[in-house]
Amino acid sequence: MYDFAADIADCAQAVETALDGQLDAGHLSGPGPTADRLVAAMRHGALEGGKRLRPLLVRQAAAIFNVPAPQVLTAGLAVEMVHCYSLIHDDLPAMDNDDLRRGRPTVHKAYDDATAILAGDALLTHAFGLLSDTACHPDPAVRIALVTELVRGSGAGGMVGGQMRDIEGEKAGLSPDEISTMQAMKTGALIRASVRIGAILGGADPRALAVLTAYAEAAGRAFQLADDILDVTATPEVMGKATGKDAALGKQTLVAQLGLEGARTRLDQIVAEALSCLRTFGPKADGLRATARYFASREN
Ligand code: IPE
Ligand code: IPE
Ligand code: MG
Ligand code: MG
Ligand code: MG
Repeated sequence: MYDFAADIADCAQAVETALDGQLDAGHLSGPGPTADRLVAAMRHGALEGGKRLRPLLVRQAAAIFNVPAPQVLTAGLAVEMVHCYSLIHDDLPAMDNDDLRRGRPTVHKAYDDATAILAGDALLTHAFGLLSDTACHPDPAVRIALVTELVRGSGAGGMVGGQMRDIEGEKAGLSPDEISTMQAMKTGALIRASVRIGAILGGADPRALAVLTAYAEAAGRAFQLADDILDVTATPEVMGKATGKDAALGKQTLVAQLGLEGARTRLDQIVAEALSCLRTFGPKADGLRATARYFASREN
């Protein structure tokens, strides 16, 4: 029987240990030595407290195809580093201006804005180094496919583009369709890339990749909708970050549009949609099923 609690805990532990190992002067060195302050800020932004849901999705998609664990972990770390960079930058005064993240001061609070920007830049860059490493996959063509996937998920047509729309929307306002597009990009694109990276590692055929992509797109919508609901309903203590910020910043969310009850109903529908995409898979997709449910029921 699949055990979600054990899977998420085991994944978080593996990611924490591996990140701790990667984020040291040895792994990060280039033509010159690393700057201690930069490495310390990267560690502050990446270690401790994250739920590690994107590496979990990589792992659960890969589980359908029996991919070796070290490859899965390496690819998962890459996605998690991009995610951590996105949070560091998202919290900057020029963006959401948040002081608390994962129950600790944000990186720009613990260090300063310039250091936070650079720590994010360095995490982003290192992520692509991980995907290019033979530890990720022995076949260079697969490694290039993984890099391409993370480029699409994280770039101007993905996460970064969604962040731009999110910021623009604070002033301009967004229609319900525009909110969906913005959310599919700012959060959904990296979740989509996580699932697809797991499937690509496993050599998924085009049909399997297509249904897993549909699953991931629904799961990503569920994830951000839950984040927006929790921004209204949860406490900063439980979330480890400020709440009540979306309304305060004039953020365009589906909660603002549909109300809390409407948003919860929509959330249930989206999770059902995600689950229906996995019909063709047997018990090997139980991890992905459990995670879609968790996205809606999570409390932090
Ligand atoms: C928070 O993501 C930011 C969004 C994309 C909404 P998570 O809820 O996955 O954050 P951590 O990694 O667990 O802190
Ligand atoms: C952040 O969305 C999405 C990214 C970091 C790309 P939010 O701004 O809603 O995330 P939180 O609520 O600060 O975690
Ligand atoms: Mg934001
Ligand atoms: Mg934010
Ligand atoms: Mg939020």
